[in-house]
Amino acid sequence: MRFAVSLLLPLLSFLSPAHAQGNSSAYSQAVVAALQQAGFTGLAGVLTTINSTAPAQTLFSELSSGRNFTLFAPDDESVGNLTTIAAGNNSLLAEYVTYHFINGNFQNFSANVSAGGPSGGGCSFTPLSTSTVSTSASAMSAAAVFERRQISSNTTFPFPQIYSGVFPNVTLGRTLLNASDLVMLEGNKSQVLAWTRNETTLNVTILNQAASNVTIVNATTWQNLFINGISGFLTPPGNLTNALTATNASDALCLLTSTHVISANGTNETIIEAIQEARGITLFIPNNASFTTEVNQTISGLLNNQTALATLLQNHYINGTTLYSTQIANQSNVTTAAGEPIQFLSNSSGLFLEGANGTSAQVVRPDVLLDNGVAHIIDRVLIVEDSNPSAASSAYASATSEAAISTTETAPIGLSTSSSSETSSSASTSSSETSTSTTSGTSTITVTQTASV
Ligand SMILES: *[C@@H]1O[C@H](CO)[C@@H](O)[C@H](O)[C@H]1NC(C)=O
Ligand SMILES: *[C@@H]1O[C@H](CO)[C@@H](O)[C@H](O)[C@H]1NC(C)=O
Ligand SMILES: *[C@@H]1O[C@H](CO)[C@@H](O)[C@H](O)[C@H]1NC(C)=O
Ligand SMILES: *[C@@H]1O[C@H](CO)[C@@H](O)[C@H](O)[C@H]1NC(C)=O
Ligand SMILES: *[C@@H]1O[C@H](CO)[C@@H](O)[C@H](O)[C@H]1NC(C)=O
Ligand SMILES: *[C@@H]1O[C@H](CO)[C@@H](O)[C@H](O)[C@H]1NC(C)=O
Ligand SMILES: *[C@@H]1O[C@H](CO)[C@@H](O)[C@H](O)[C@H]1NC(C)=O
Ligand SMILES: *[C@@H]1O[C@H](CO)[C@@H](O)[C@H](O)[C@H]1NC(C)=O
Ligand SMILES: *[C@@H]1O[C@H](CO)[C@@H](O)[C@H](O)[C@H]1NC(C)=O
Ligand SMILES: *[C@@H]1O[C@H](CO)[C@@H](O)[C@H](O)[C@H]1NC(C)=O
Ligand SMILES: *[C@@H]1O[C@H](CO)[C@@H](O)[C@H](O)[C@H]1NC(C)=O
Ligand SMILES: *[C@@H]1O[C@H](CO)[C@@H](O)[C@H](O)[C@H]1NC(C)=O
Repeated sequence: MRFAVSLLLPLLSFLSPAHAQGNSSAYSQAVVAALQQAGFTGLAGVLTTINSTAPAQTLFSELSSGRNFTLFAPDDESVGNLTTIAAGNNSLLAEYVTYHFINGNFQNFSANVSAGGPSGGGCSFTPLSTSTVSTSASAMSAAAVFERRQISSNTTFPFPQIYSGVFPNVTLGRTLLNASDLVMLEGNKSQVLAWTRNETTLNVTILNQAASNVTIVNATTWQNLFINGISGFLTPPGNLTNALTATNASDALCLLTSTHVISANGTNETIIEAIQEARGITLFIPNNASFTTEVNQTISGLLNNQTALATLLQNHYINGTTLYSTQIANQSNVTTAAGEPIQFLSNSSGLFLEGANGTSAQVVRPDVLLDNGVAHIIDRVLIVEDSNPSAASSAYASATSEAAISTTETAPIGLSTSSSSETSSSASTSSSETSTSTTSGTSTITVTQTASV
């Protein structure tokens, strides 16, 4: 079989431009019709509007590859707002649209599997797709087993449910947004989207959006798309300054903007400038409450020593790698930008970290997404003044080489296993073939969670 495929490849690659375009053009018409029929007329119109732009052509070509995708489909009013924000720039509008598509089918099999008990609120569960129960796909069933503990087995839903952690646990998916003007992650990775389920209402809310009430209102399946209707539109994450302002972390923002470092080329710049130039960064940002009188005294004592203050701040971030909450949970230890170790612990009371000299903090708000990485808000300043430049540069070098290995997650980030259930079914897409390898760290997390059930 493999032999036959490789014999065909030269022929297919000769034919593939026209072939792919044909697929993709037919697909674009079919998806527009399907969205109209499902009640997403505004979004269907936008897909027609952006059709001729380069990002939309790439989008349709990916969507017609036969792989599975999850779509967050804004209602008509929200699509109008999205169009307003793009201000007549159809390429930008197309880039925003790509942020609404996630690689992989994130349907929460467990919610369907476990439905059938007495109905709590009189709502009935109506499967809209017959292909929802898939216990053989190891990646998703591991996730499903994990999730089943979190939602009561008596819960029934009026529509198919997306896989989601229950707050404060978060689920992250890799989107199709990879525009270089909007995303600066390591290894040219695409931007992610994060969501969580409210434990009381059981509604799923999209995180990191200006409106806090972007929730999933309904869902259906069409061909290779799991379409989730949302009560808003999605905008890609901005820079660290925006994020710290939005999360009221003004004390940390002030320190990062007033402390200077000398960059590799000898430029005297602020730490926040240095951070925003990075491709891939993980920050632990102390909230305002963590700046106690005692901490402020310590920091005041360092104000005349920019190097020491810079080191203390550099012990709050990891350079060259973006680690989301679902990935750091059981990470053994990582090295900060100052070269010191930082350790993580996750248990039922939350996610914790410990700096080099034993200072520990709890993550109080995980996964604040940035255009070039992620910030986790913590409840304490890590007073670590030691540094180890050679450890810092070797950690950065290994993060960079790891990032160069191209992988596209098709399952929740941090829960994916090495056996992917998503493989391309079309030979013409071999150039965008999905790699199935993940880091050993992420596999470990899955194994632990499955084993503890
Ligand atoms: C997009 O443009 C192609 C031609 O490049 C056309 O064949 C296709 O029907 C268009 N699709 C939509 C949804 O307008
Ligand atoms: C899903 O939501 C969209 C947008 O709000 C709406 O037009 C459509 O009718 C809804 N579909 C169902 C089955 O309720
Ligand atoms: C969306 O647009 C409507 C008008 O169509 C406006 O009333 C509303 O405030 C806008 N919402 C946002 C979040 O911009
Ligand atoms: C499910 O409902 C049944 C009957 O109302 C009840 O006995 C059982 O404890 C419930 N189970 C859970 C996990 O809530
Ligand atoms: C969950 O929803 C309830 C009811 O709307 C709300 O009061 C609560 O704040 C929500 N929880 C979170 C963590 O957002
Ligand atoms: C949960 O979502 C549904 C569908 O959007 C909505 O009707 C309901 O008001 C939401 N519940 C809460 C408490 O926000
Ligand atoms: C979201 O919340 C804002 C402020 O509470 C409200 O004005 C708006 O109508 C809400 N949007 C939706 C779609 O529920
Ligand atoms: C962050 O982004 C805003 C636009 O949203 C921009 O005005 C600001 O200059 C950026 N900050 C830095 C330090 O790049
Ligand atoms: C030094 O590097 C920074 C970014 O890394 C850049 O903005 C700046 O222009 C460079 N300066 C010189 C003199 O090359
Ligand atoms: C960098 O610039 C700041 C503010 O201009 C200054 O206080 C600091 O001493 C400079 N650092 C070095 C190493 O020159
Ligand atoms: C969040 O996930 C952890 C495992 O990482 C689990 O122990 C905890 O119970 C979960 N919390 C909720 C609210 O589901
Ligand atoms: C897409 O998802 C469906 C339903 O979960 C599954 O049966 C199918 O095998 C998936 N297709 C691919 C190409 O992974």
